[in-house]
Amino acid sequence: MCDRLLAEGHAVVGVDNFLTGAEQNITHLMGHPRFRFVSHDITQPLSVADPLDAVVNMASPASPKDYLEHPIETLDVGSAGTRNTLELARAKSARYLLTSTSECYGDPLVHPQVETYWGNVNPVGPRSCYDESKRFAEALTMAYHRTHGLRTNIARIFNTYGPRMKLDDGRVVPAFVYQALRGEPITIFGDGTQTRSFCYVSDLVDGLYRLMHSDEHYPVNLGNPDEMTILEFAERIRGLTGSSSPIVSRPLPEDDPRQRQPDISKARRLLNWEPRVPLEEGLRLTLDHFRGHTSSQLFIGR
Ligand SMILES: NC(=O)c1ccc[n+]([C@@H]2O[C@H](COP(=O)([O-])OP(=O)(O)OC[C@H]3O[C@@H](n4cnc5c(N)ncnc54)[C@H](O)[C@@H]3O)[C@@H](O)[C@H]2O)c1
Repeated sequence: MCDRLLAEGHAVVGVDNFLTGAEQNITHLMGHPRFRFVSHDITQPLSVADPLDAVVNMASPASPKDYLEHPIETLDVGSAGTRNTLELARAKSARYLLTSTSECYGDPLVHPQVETYWGNVNPVGPRSCYDESKRFAEALTMAYHRTHGLRTNIARIFNTYGPRMKLDDGRVVPAFVYQALRGEPITIFGDGTQTRSFCYVSDLVDGLYRLMHSDEHYPVNLGNPDEMTILEFAERIRGLTGSSSPIVSRPLPEDDPRQRQPDISKARRLLNWEPRVPLEEGLRLTLDHFRGHTSSQLFIGR
């Protein structure tokens, strides 16, 4: 997102506490005349001296592994973090973009998921720290819109992948790529018939960029509607990497959604947006990135 904003000619103040992110992912931006970095935990109030046109809140542990490891920080960043960034937008008369998630739909009973579906979330399950944090963040963003007239947007992001992901963050794409490249067994959960859809990062960022220029304050799904089973996906990764890793099954985690597929009619209609990067090409770009780094340079989480 920072790369895109800078490429469009904007000045960017990046804020992160690197709870789950990696400093090396922004080293290429350090020294850019229009980029400034502030190390800060957004659960604490923040003030920025610069005038701001927009506040984009993307901060959160984002992978199941990360939020299961940091459940309280995840709830804090969705609640206090969202509040602090909304206050910043309000103080600066800036617009506000919240990056929410398809997890708001929980284990959905409606398929594909449309924005008007209210979801099927277990409020006390292990994943609830993330799902409910984002649902609260959406409610708070709507409250600021209604109470203070703040110009807000909410993106519900579905599985997105690409270069610079943490190889061991537990998300499907890096997990399978990591295992395939090392010749280790590729682990699927259950029988692998659960479905997912994967969006390449540049497509997603383009959707976010368009959304933050729109006046739609209700949630908009952004993701790739091209759905496939996890087993099929594991086979594609194995084929692309030329790996001979066996595909092995592990017990299904609690509350693992059976089906995930965005209905993106709203984004198509309002933003004239849809994903353009085919899966094969996105995976090749991601693999090139991982292959181009030695294992010591790759971002393996702490
Ligand atoms: N990638 C996906 O598939 C996906 C899907 C749905 C939603 N999202 C949402 O999109 C956003 C970006 O996701 P991403 O995949 O780029 O994740 P990412 O891990 O690359 O970025 C999130 C960043 O937030 C930072 N962060 C966490 N807590 C913080 C805090 N208290 N203060 C400051 N920074 C903090 C982390 O250190 C990390 O660098 C997240 O909010 C995530 O929940 C992502």
